[in-house]
Amino acid sequence: MIEHRLSDEKFRNVCDQWKLFLHPFENSVEHILIKYNSASPELFDQDHRKFQIDFEGNSVSYAKYKGGMNSEPMSRALGAGKLGKRVLDLSAGLGVDSVFLAQLGYHVTGIERNPFIYVSLKTALENLTANYRTNLKFVFDQAQNFLRETSEEFDVCYFDPMFPAKTKSALPKQEMVFFKNLVGLDDDSSQVLQTVINSKKFKRCVVKRPLSAEPLLKPAGNIKGKIIRYDIYSN
Ligand SMILES: C[S@@+](CC[C@H](N)C(=O)[O-])C[C@H]1O[C@@H](n2cnc3c(N)ncnc32)[C@H](O)[C@@H]1O
Repeated sequence: MIEHRLSDEKFRNVCDQWKLFLHPFENSVEHILIKYNSASPELFDQDHRKFQIDFEGNSVSYAKYKGGMNSEPMSRALGAGKLGKRVLDLSAGLGVDSVFLAQLGYHVTGIERNPFIYVSLKTALENLTANYRTNLKFVFDQAQNFLRETSEEFDVCYFDPMFPAKTKSALPKQEMVFFKNLVGLDDDSSQVLQTVINSKKFKRCVVKRPLSAEPLLKPAGNIKGKIIRYDIYSN
């Protein structure tokens, strides 16, 4: 059940868009309350855990830009721009990695299959004024489906399914519990990666994993950070 609360009439348009989009998913959740008291609506679960995506307001998660394409490990794993800058992010989630890559100068299309996460991403992008906004786009779809149907061309592909165990995350702990309950375990990840490889649409695919986790499939190589590993699959 979805309960909506509009506390500021100023946000009526955002509220109407969300209601329309989420209506078909009404029965997919036990209870979610959406409060429209800012342009970036807040979601609450039945235990009052909050979830909100705000690219401009949350500088801790979305202002990570430090080095350049050649120095950031995620970017190096993707070929540092030398294989091309068109990235398909198969698991947009909170948009942290998509935003980061867009800030580095990549052109990112992020795919998200959860309707609540997708509308949160879309609203966050509509509210973004920073110039990297033009490098970003989000699509509501199942990655496998998008790969089958798209005629768009990409250079490289990025995949970050839900981690199997506890690791440091972009959200405070309670928000992460809400997020995990909402999106589930992503237990189709190996099949998704196999579909990507079989599609032969990309020069390279990079999968983000916790350092100690098994790779989804045997990679051609990897780049390791302190707690994260980027597994590289080449075509
Ligand atoms: C761990 S989160 C990704 C976090 C993201 N990289 C970030 O920086 O915020 C995984 C997200 O990918 C989505 N996802 C996982 N598998 C997917 C698939 N096959 N198609 C579309 N979305 C998928 C999940 O719904 C979830 O929101």
